Parts: sequence; C-alpha cells; structure tokens
Amino acid sequence: MNLKHTLLATTATLLLAASQTLTAADVAENWTKHCGSCHGADGTAKTKAGRMAGAKDLTDAAYQKQFTDDQILQRLKDGVSDKGKEKMKPFKGTLTDDELKALVAKVRTFAK
Ligand code: HEC
Repeated sequence: MNLKHTLLATTATLLLAASQTLTAADVAENWTKHCGSCHGADGTAKTKAGRMAGAKDLTDAAYQKQFTDDQILQRLKDGVSDKGKEKMKPFKGTLTDDELKALVAKVRTFAK
C-alpha cells in the first residue's frame, strides 16, 4: 500500500467511526435541521411553522410530564396525526433510533 492509499483508508475509517458516534454537535444539528422549524431553537415553538402545526411549548414542565421518553420516541418514529391531518411527520426513515433517542434527551433539556 502506498502513502496515498494509506491516507484514503485512514480517512474512510475515520468517517465510518464518526458516523457511528453521536456528538452533541450532531444532535444540535439534527434538532436545527429536523425539529427547529416547528419547535424553535429553544423549544418554545414560537415559529411560523410551529404555530401553523400547533406545536406546544416544550419548556413547559407540566406539558412534558404528559409523556414518557418511550412515548416521545414512538411518536417521533410514527409521527403525529389528528383527524387524518399530519401534525408531525414520521422520522423513522430519516433518523436512526440512536439519533431519535438523543433528540428525546435534548427535548428533556428544554424543561427544567
Ligand atoms: C411540522 C412541524 C413539526 C416538526 C418538524 C417536528 N414537530 Fe414535534 N410536534 C409538532 C406538533 C404539532 C406537535 C404536537 C402534537 C399534539 O398536538 O400533541 C409535536 C409534538 C412533539 C413533542 C411532544 C410529545 C408528543 O409526543 O406529542 C415532542 C417531544 C416533539 N414534538 C419533538 C420533536 C422532535 C424531536 C422533532 C424533530 C425530530 C420534531 N418534534 C419535529 C410539530 C412538529
């Protein structure tokens, strides 16, 4: 193996390792990309899309007590619909279980 190949192999290994370990930055990025449009950067859902969808304030501890981690995970996987109208889309094809679990943990940080 010459130097170039060694470097390529090393880079590939590093990329693979990176894709398997979720960092706080990954979780923050997923939140911004997939959740923030409705729930807002701070979880208060004071965004245009959040108001339209009817998302509630995730900094409200009383609201957060209404569901367990497993229930949130399930609803993130399957999405939330009301009378046939989709309120939150299912994320199971877009994000992995680990990514969704990390987002559940992030959701919990909004309510203190
Ligand atoms: C299209 C807007 C939209 C997006 C994008 C969105 N949500 Fe929601 N989400 C909602 C709405 C609307 C509700 C409230 C459903 C209801 O009436 O109870 C909700 C509810 C929730 C709840 C409350 C618990 C529950 O089970 O209802 C949590 C937690 C949550 N979302 C997390 C997330 C996370 C994490 C993401 C990103 C992976 C996300 N949401 C993306 C609109 C959205």
